[in-house]
Amino acid sequence: MSRVAHPAGPRYADVLPADHPPAPPADLNALDPGIWPRNAARDRDTGALTLGGIDARDLAARFGTPVFVADESDVRERCREYVDAFGPDAQVCYAAKAFCSRAMLRWVAEEGLGVDVCTGGELAVALSAGVPPERITMHGNNKLLSEIERAVEAGVGHIVVDSFEEIARLASVAEQTEQSARSGKRPKVLVRVTTGVEAHTHEFMATAHDDQKFGFSLSSGAADEAVRRVIAQPGLEFKGLHSHIGSQIFDTAGFEVAAHRVIELALRIHSEHGVAISELDLGGGFGIAYTAEDDPPDVRSLAKSLRAIVAGQCDAAGLPEPTLTIEPGRGIVGPSTVTLYEVGTIKDVDGLRTYVSVDGGMSDNVRTALYDASYTCTLASRSSDAPPMLSRVVGRHCESGDIVVRHCYLPADLAPGDLLAVAATGAYCWSLASNYNHLPRPGVVAVRDGAAREIVRRETLDDLLALDVG
Ligand code: LLP
Repeated sequence: MSRVAHPAGPRYADVLPADHPPAPPADLNALDPGIWPRNAARDRDTGALTLGGIDARDLAARFGTPVFVADESDVRERCREYVDAFGPDAQVCYAAKAFCSRAMLRWVAEEGLGVDVCTGGELAVALSAGVPPERITMHGNNKLLSEIERAVEAGVGHIVVDSFEEIARLASVAEQTEQSARSGKRPKVLVRVTTGVEAHTHEFMATAHDDQKFGFSLSSGAADEAVRRVIAQPGLEFKGLHSHIGSQIFDTAGFEVAAHRVIELALRIHSEHGVAISELDLGGGFGIAYTAEDDPPDVRSLAKSLRAIVAGQCDAAGLPEPTLTIEPGRGIVGPSTVTLYEVGTIKDVDGLRTYVSVDGGMSDNVRTALYDASYTCTLASRSSDAPPMLSRVVGRHCESGDIVVRHCYLPADLAPGDLLAVAATGAYCWSLASNYNHLPRPGVVAVRDGAAREIVRRETLDDLLALDVG
């Protein structure tokens, strides 16, 4: 994309559609099965979008808009696919940061997954959802002391340490916490390693990415030292290593380099301490399709490559194979959910493109503004045979960067009051939502087999006013 530099940021200069999509899709009413939830369809009579067997117009009437609609069966099926593909010896942990609610965490736990949390808030949701504590992994680069205490007290399965201060804090908490003292169960610790690999979508780079806040650097020797310090603490049980290289990754080359580097460390640990790591957590980051241009690998081939990478690297190093853990967030929940909006205004900008304003915006999906993310959308309240109209779906915030879908084609007979659905908003949309401009955050509705229920209540203005204590 070519954009002219602008002091306020590149997006402010992006007024001309130099980079609009090459051609409209052949059928504006089609729902690409690689992008839309598995149980999305069009009603045969009205052409309206149905989600989990329910007409989008009924969902909008009952729950209001904007609203996130999550297809529960889609989530559950994806959980099963990950578990089946990685096999009984591996552990699949859902990364709760992608979307964290009690219902969601119950679904994934019922499907046999563990849950990765990175704050006390996410931990509280997981515990309150009844996720077995031993299946919870606690992350975070600056865990509060109170969060470490809560995690140890609850007996979480793993704590991933991220700094030298934290190793000392955790050791002292473990000593003092009744739960671990009483049960004699020491917290199981993974050391988060920065491998110098950074991967996103199609590319990865294997240099110079030590300059970030997470983990212990391999190149500086900090990772070796962290392992030394964990092993030296009698109150902690060193289990293995953790590496997360990025998000929305489409090929496994980055994982291969990262695994290679982590296994080199494992080999050094073995010769220095006589300890073979029993667990290797390669993090998450598996990409999904947001648009027809995205072509992520299927979970089965992903699992095959990752397992082969770990087996191959361990074999070459002469180490026993550790238990492999992965932490998909987006890959589990991303494709399951769509956001329904109502169209408010339709503005043709000098014949360039049509700006379609909806009743939400960057407060319910900041990814377009923040990451230049692309999305697919469709007319949801009906189908249409009208010709395609180059459009930009925007929100109702006081900001020109408030864009939901930068480029899309919508039918030219689009009218105020129509419903639009934006696909693949399950991950990092609700969880990054804000109250910018005092917009109450949308609710999240779960649909399954023709039934719908709200799993996260829509906020009201009263909720917002109640926080403002004057
Ligand atoms: N494990 C760790 C340690 C992570 O930091 C993350 C994501 C995951 C697992 C899950 O990654 P996933 O499978 O969902 O890609 N807000 C950004 C994504 C940030 C990801 C942060 N860490 C976005 O909207 O694209």
